Amino acid sequence: MSFAQSLLEWFRENGRDLPWRQTKDPYAIWLSEIILQQTQVKQGWDYWERFMHRWPTVEALAAATEDEVLREWQGLGYYSRARNLHYAAKQIVALGHFPNTLDEIKQLKGVGDYTAAAIGSSAFDLPAAVVDGNVYRVLARYFGIDTPINTTEGKKVFAAMAQELLPIGKASDYNQAIMDFGAIQCTPQSPRCLLCPLAESCEALHAGRVAELPVKQKTLKVRERHLIYIYVRCKGYVAIHRRGPGDIWQGLWEPYLIENGKLNIENLNPQSVLPNFQSSIFNLQLIAKGVKHVLTHRILYADFYLWVVDERPVLPDDYMWIKESELDDYAKPRLIETLIATI
Ligand code: ADE
Repeated sequence: MSFAQSLLEWFRENGRDLPWRQTKDPYAIWLSEIILQQTQVKQGWDYWERFMHRWPTVEALAAATEDEVLREWQGLGYYSRARNLHYAAKQIVALGHFPNTLDEIKQLKGVGDYTAAAIGSSAFDLPAAVVDGNVYRVLARYFGIDTPINTTEGKKVFAAMAQELLPIGKASDYNQAIMDFGAIQCTPQSPRCLLCPLAESCEALHAGRVAELPVKQKTLKVRERHLIYIYVRCKGYVAIHRRGPGDIWQGLWEPYLIENGKLNIENLNPQSVLPNFQSSIFNLQLIAKGVKHVLTHRILYADFYLWVVDERPVLPDDYMWIKESELDDYAKPRLIETLIATI
């Protein structure tokens, strides 16, 4: 049996009996989908009943005041949904009929891809697959797909797949089925694999990867770092060092670096810059301050000083002195190239 067939069979036995599934009234279906956007079925059910009772048609809802709608929405949270609902009711009345193509449905305020597919399939049998967290989870596990779901690539892969799996003429039931299957059977934690009719052909179950899927790419926090570079010039030579492993500039060369956000950069002194510094002459020349450099997961702020000395100061062991005329031969981060060019 195909994935879709198994799912539909499971749905016939286990699907939830929800009132908005007993109707083809697009208004009733749309209302349910807006309520269920950020609310569990259990909590949303009463609200749907109350709205339908008070405003049985889209015309009735459009004729209400925004205040009345907001008051009825009270307790559900995310109140922009209520404002959009009321606005969209007026859009529909102005249109003269409930929109019945995906593109038109998406024109309604508060309706995105997911909600449009849910309304379109349930109310008009449009062949549009819903893709939400439930769908990502069910497909990732059943087909053993580890493309991260929160990437452009992942979104493309899963949307195409969901659409391909949609059985012709059964979009409405199939969408409801996969939603319920994800909510009841293939849950995020402790899915009911032992009693799952799809277990036999579930890739994740066979590979022991149910808990791993779907994969989410960790969003690394963008951290800020403050760098202070000192271009130490001594009789035509400059001190540089090569960055060690463990960062994106690995293997590249740079001038003397103090990487310490806590350092009082307004008042640099020889001891803070160079603990072993002997000379009393210490005049740093500020070349550039707070130069911003944006990398994927870092924002760097660099200050750049020129320090001209007659005697080579003792620098940490990994620094070496090279002729300034040979600087070009050393690969440097772009930020450093730019700063050096300004001297
Ligand atoms: N969540 C969003 N839409 C839903 C629907 N039609 N049935 C169950 N849960 C849902």
